[in-house]
Amino acid sequence: MSGDYPHLHPSARAWADEDAPSRVRRIRTDRWIGYARAQAALAAIEDVLSFPKRTRMPNLLLVGPTNNGKTMIVEKFRRSHPPIAAVDAEDGIARVPVLKMQMPAGPDERRFFGAILDELGMDHWPKERVAAQQNLAVRLMRTADVRVLVIDELHNVLSGPVLQQRRLLNLLRWLGNELQIPLVGVGTAEALRAIRSDDQLANRFEPVALPLWDEDEAYRRLLSTLEALLPLRKPSGLAQPALAGKIFALSEGVLGEIVSIVTRAAAVAVTSGAEAISPRLIEKTGFISPTGRRRVAV
Ligand SMILES: Nc1ncnc2c1ncn2[C@@H]1O[C@H](COP(=O)(O)OP(=O)(O)OP(=O)(O)O)[C@@H](O)[C@H]1O
Ligand SMILES: [Mg+2]
Repeated sequence: MSGDYPHLHPSARAWADEDAPSRVRRIRTDRWIGYARAQAALAAIEDVLSFPKRTRMPNLLLVGPTNNGKTMIVEKFRRSHPPIAAVDAEDGIARVPVLKMQMPAGPDERRFFGAILDELGMDHWPKERVAAQQNLAVRLMRTADVRVLVIDELHNVLSGPVLQQRRLLNLLRWLGNELQIPLVGVGTAEALRAIRSDDQLANRFEPVALPLWDEDEAYRRLLSTLEALLPLRKPSGLAQPALAGKIFALSEGVLGEIVSIVTRAAAVAVTSGAEAISPRLIEKTGFISPTGRRRVAV
């Protein structure tokens, strides 16, 4: 079957003629949708990146509930500032403009600098002495000309004892000052709580919120964009009230759930031959809302 598929984005039209397995694979692949809040968050991160070095660098905290698109945003940011390999650099020195790490669980200085050294591609580093690790990490970050340090899962700071939390928060402040680079923290409301527990950090971090979605125009736009990118041969009208309402209720306003409901339904639409998503087809996927899943788990 071949058609024009006017309901699809031009980039997705050619896919609609592919066989079922390859379309299901495409449906299951992560895609980037530049919804308004994501674009605003990206612009805010770009803005701190372009700041000239000064003693007090601006920091950001991207904060929102779990599964709501935070990591996707910082990954997108990193992709737009890719590393430059040593062989491609004029002076033969590799550059890592955006260094993204995850705050380790039960973090201490050793794990923290270990995570940085891992990201810089160091396989072996002095395991015994924290001071040596710290010196090496800072030296390598300078050499690689790191311009912004992104720390995902920042709320993990709170998983250690209080004294340890203080030490790590002090360390963050010290690192930003020492390198004179902005820090971009990423995490849940707990991360915001961690930052706010330290007065000096609190006034250095500007929160950028990524709240749960409302059932509004932005939500319907998101559904329309998603629909246009999924290679179904018939239009579903996801933004129409019946479907939009059903997806919203099941998702509880969480972006990852919205995407997951729609993509699961789209895969069934392909394999069943229905070729469009309907409320009944969503039921068929047996999707359980986040609250329902938590209930099952206890
Ligand atoms: N910009 C986007 N475009 C398309 N899909 C997205 C986008 N952002 C998030 N998603 C979907 O939502 C899911 C969750 O996103 P992400 O992993 O970024 O959440 P998170 O806020 O970092 O969650 P956590 O706090 O649990 O780490 C992704 O796997 C993807 O399916
Ligand atoms: Mg994440």
